Amino acid sequence: MDTRIAVFASGRGSNLEAIIERIEREDLRNARIVLVISNNSRAGALDLARNRGIEAVHISTKTHPVETDYENSLHELLRRHRVDLVLLAGYMKLLPPSLIRAYPKRILNIHPALLPKFGGKGMYGIKVHTAVLKAGEKETGVTIHFVNERYDEGAVIDQAHVPVLDGDTPESLASRVLEVEHGLYWKVIDAVINGRRGREDE
Ligand code: GRF
Repeated sequence: MDTRIAVFASGRGSNLEAIIERIEREDLRNARIVLVISNNSRAGALDLARNRGIEAVHISTKTHPVETDYENSLHELLRRHRVDLVLLAGYMKLLPPSLIRAYPKRILNIHPALLPKFGGKGMYGIKVHTAVLKAGEKETGVTIHFVNERYDEGAVIDQAHVPVLDGDTPESLASRVLEVEHGLYWKVIDAVINGRRGREDE
C-alpha cells in the first residue's frame, strides 16, 4: 500500500516537483503525495500541486488567527487525508509541537547545508550560502533530518557534500546545492518508506 505523503512548502517548490517526478517515473515506489500545505498563499508549491491534481491548502495564522484553530486544522487535514509521512520542503514556519508528537519519526526536513553547521532560526535560503562563503568553508552540502521541536536540530538521516569552488557566489552555490537536494531527498524518502531507515529504534 502506498505511503500517503503531505508536503509542507512555503516557496517555489522545486523539491516538491523533484519528488513528484520521481514518483511519476516510478523511481520512488509505494509513495503518493496526497496533500500540499503552505503558510504562503502565493507559494509556487501550491500551484504546482494544483496543476497535478493534488489537494493544496493555504493555512496560516492569517487564515486561522487563533493558534489552537490553526493547530487543530493542521491535525484535521492530516487525519482526513490519512497522512503517514510529512515532508518539509522549504517550509518557513515551525510546526506545532503537538503535530511533531503525533508523527514520531514521520516528519523529515531538508536543509541546504551540512548541519549542525549553518542551521537554526534565521538560517534559510540565500542566507545559508552567504554564511558558508563568509566562513571560508571548503565544502557545504545538504542535510535531511527528522524534525523535532527546534529548527534544524532533529537526528540527521543523510547528508551529501558539495564543494565550494573558487569564485562561488551565494547564488552559484545555491544552485549547485539545490541540484544535489533534488537528487537526495527522494532517495532518503525511498529508504524511509521502503524500510531501510528510520525504524531502527521504534
Ligand atoms: C531548499 O533549499 C531547502 O533545502 C530549504 O528551502 C529550499 C526550498 O526550495 N529548506 P524549493 O521551494 O524546494 O525550491
